[in-house]
Amino acid sequence: MKLFLAFALSVFLFSCQDTKRPSYAKKEVSSKITTQQHPGKKLMIANCYVCHSPSASHENRIAPPMVAVKKHYLDANTSKEQFTASLQNWIENPTKENAKMYGAVKRFGLMPKQAFPKETITQIAAYMFDNDIEKPEWFDAHEKEEHTKKRN
Ligand code: HEC
Repeated sequence: MKLFLAFALSVFLFSCQDTKRPSYAKKEVSSKITTQQHPGKKLMIANCYVCHSPSASHENRIAPPMVAVKKHYLDANTSKEQFTASLQNWIENPTKENAKMYGAVKRFGLMPKQAFPKETITQIAAYMFDNDIEKPEWFDAHEKEEHTKKRN
């Protein structure tokens, strides 16, 4: 009988933990889904991350991460319309004269011209403007290094 009670108690305790866990897990999943649902984010992942991936290491990249692109295209005075227009302009004319990221052009070569629907770029620009873009782990250290290089 004692053994049975101990068993029943442990089942009860474990089942308590189990009922708590799924609701916690669900919360995490649903918040992930909401941030991924922005159509611009999906389009950016589908069309740009092949080259602009945030998870590639600094050594193995073929293009700068999107967070770096955003930094070069945006300052405190840039409006959403201006940001969208300059992104559209780049997609239509990816030339050396038009480039703002000279270091990237030098390291990776010019971005190849690709045909994207205007609406796709508008959505991507809206997502980039309104949200923090996923940063690679090495990004902050790299930024610091670039700044000290410029100062010296
Ligand atoms: C086939 C690889 C590739 C794909 C796909 C790609 N890019 Fe690029 N992109 C590059 C490379 C390489 C550079 C860095 C050299 C340069 O600036 O041209 C770059 C640079 C850029 C720049 C900075 C240009 C400058 O120098 O001023 C912007 C903006 C940009 N990409 C936007 C996008 C967007 C938006 C998408 C998706 C719709 C995209 N790219 C998809 C390769 C790619």
